[in-house]
Amino acid sequence: MNYQSILAEIQNEIKPLFKEGKVANYIPALQKANPNDFAMSIVTIDGNEYHIGCSDKNFSIQSISKVFTFTLALENYSKELYKKVGHEPSGDPFNSLVQLEYENGIPRNPFINAGAIVTTDSLISKYKDDTFSQVLKFIKKTSNNNTINFDNEIFKSELEHGYRNLSLINLMKSFKNIDNDTKKVIETYFQQCSIMMNTKQLAHSMLFLANHGRQPITNEIIINEAKAKRINSLMLTCGHYDASGDFAYKVGLPGKSGVGGGIVAVVPKKMALCVYSPKLNKQGNSLIGTKALELFTTKTGLSIF
Ligand code: DON
Repeated sequence: MNYQSILAEIQNEIKPLFKEGKVANYIPALQKANPNDFAMSIVTIDGNEYHIGCSDKNFSIQSISKVFTFTLALENYSKELYKKVGHEPSGDPFNSLVQLEYENGIPRNPFINAGAIVTTDSLISKYKDDTFSQVLKFIKKTSNNNTINFDNEIFKSELEHGYRNLSLINLMKSFKNIDNDTKKVIETYFQQCSIMMNTKQLAHSMLFLANHGRQPITNEIIINEAKAKRINSLMLTCGHYDASGDFAYKVGLPGKSGVGGGIVAVVPKKMALCVYSPKLNKQGNSLIGTKALELFTTKTGLSIF
């Protein structure tokens, strides 16, 4: 299949959608993104790469970081982790508080904010003050790239405006589902969200999930096969919040979005993809990114269904 020409077709077909959607503004620093940016990357497990658009431009990975922290926590805690966080879709927005109150401070899954905050809390119990550097080290390992870092301005911006996340962590602390100091946990969570990567690096970073848990370029085992299966399943059912059903219906791949405008997706046993376009739909997922991935699976027949 000629993936490069498929990427060119997609780039052409998404053009009319640039007038739709809205760049995230509840974290003020994110608003500086260029609304007309578009990039898409495909990396196959046998090492071929195809890119289009601004695939070298770094953007804030935001909730895509939840895949990395969940993988690291699952590796450390296995089933124990499910005492603190579930694995069911929430059907609610990513920063919703309502369900958490009804369900005694146990978040539905690790890909909504509450679930990711609990996941980070579990990492702090293990790595203490070294947690963020361990997260960064892990991302460098999965993406086989040593240059990855975070953006202090985006981190500070979210720290100043993260009112809902502060509510979530305090509510969970009241249910005794946060073990560490809330300030430490929320700062580490915001820091992981402000990590900067481009579509090339993100596609590389997800290859282990397309390859039963092994990074195919370095041949390093990141996580065992059974856990890789579970992470992919959660990405399919929970990776897009209250639009997870819609994403599965239209795209048919495990995927994870971030309000920075990135979406990663996995074609099991074949490849990992990443698309970037910062204007979001009303559920907070990249509008053009979702459409580009839908076009990709329609044109190639590479959905998992
Ligand atoms: O916690 C937040 O609200 C952001 N740092 C991340 C949210 C996010 O990326 C939702 N994704 N689509």
